[in-house]
Amino acid sequence: MADVDLERLVNVADFERVATERMHAGALGYFAGGAGDERTLRDNIAAYARRRLWPRVLVDVSQVSTATTVLGREISSPVIVAPVAFQKLAHPDGEVGMARAAAGTGTIMCLSTIATTGPAEVAAAAPGAPRWFQLYCFRDRGITRTLLDEAIDNGFEAIALTVDAPRAGRRERDFRTGFRADVTAPAVAAAVGSGVALTPAEVFALVDPALDWDYLAELASDCSIPVLVKGLVRGDDSALAMQHGAAGVVVSNHGGRQLDGAPATLDALEEVVEAVQGQGPVLIDGGIRRGTDVVTALALGADAVLVGRSALWGLAAGGEAGARRVLELLRDEVELAMALCGAASPVALTPDLVRPGPAVNLPANG
Ligand code: FNR
Ligand code: LAC
Repeated sequence: MADVDLERLVNVADFERVATERMHAGALGYFAGGAGDERTLRDNIAAYARRRLWPRVLVDVSQVSTATTVLGREISSPVIVAPVAFQKLAHPDGEVGMARAAAGTGTIMCLSTIATTGPAEVAAAAPGAPRWFQLYCFRDRGITRTLLDEAIDNGFEAIALTVDAPRAGRRERDFRTGFRADVTAPAVAAAVGSGVALTPAEVFALVDPALDWDYLAELASDCSIPVLVKGLVRGDDSALAMQHGAAGVVVSNHGGRQLDGAPATLDALEEVVEAVQGQGPVLIDGGIRRGTDVVTALALGADAVLVGRSALWGLAAGGEAGARRVLELLRDEVELAMALCGAASPVALTPDLVRPGPAVNLPANG
């Protein structure tokens, strides 16, 4: 398919449209899909449409900085690349292209356990990229230990333990297409051998469903790098995570791919922020498609956001360059939204900037 002129794509919706045109039905269903009726998938996005930003005026915004620091790493904008599995199914550049795109825009990429390129190879291909490793603890703890050692030995700066996926959500788009991940993922190959194309449910069956808070405490104690807990929506669980050694939390419902009916992450954010009580970073993902979404989340207490599908659509549409363009677009949108809100730095994004507003169902601008 002819290369797309990335400069003509002006927002995430444009990249999603091109990615949708390019992807085969199976891969598209996998990357775009959610669980069940996809209520939570849609609500993640709709939650931002239920908020309005109330800008301050006559604030000097001649100099606006979007830079922030998370777990000791300064990033150029509060937009981190979320872990997304099987990225070579989206584009041959895969996770290496995504890591280079993140490095090129001065932010962090979180590499999935179910990546098509392992930690050492990503580190070697994108040495300048600040990176985190997302951990699925497999039933086979030997594989998990090997993955953790490889990530830590190759300069990954934090672990994001994913806790909302003891089983696969009911991915009905994948049922209809018969999707199987026909691509090599080193961690999966270590568990089941090479050349085996698994369904998402079979991938999740590799994950240990018996994990508990003691496991988190043990992981956090044993790990030489900080451990974030990804996949929380409750304040009480977030407090437990911090009590058991987490360095911070990611408010997440897996992009609506797990429990359909879970709250939109934006609706869960304030409860989690209150429960964490500033003990560590509170990050959020789910439904972030615009700079104004990022500004809304930060104003409501998030320290930074992660983007899954937004970055993935960039990769699918244009490989490393496409992912980089999406991250740059989001950074530019964040900077503009901050200026128009009268906020010259992320710390000026405070809860009074956000109020509820009537839901709107405008079609994506694309
Ligand atoms: C994911 N997500 C995910 N999370 C995780 O911890 N490990 C993983 O391997 C994956 N894989 C994955 C694949 C695909 C196709 C998607 C869409 C998502 C969840 C991801 O990290 C993040 O929580 C959501 O994608 C956030 O929602 P948005 O940004 O996609 O709306
Ligand atoms: C998914 C897993 C791999 O959501 O996290 O597909």
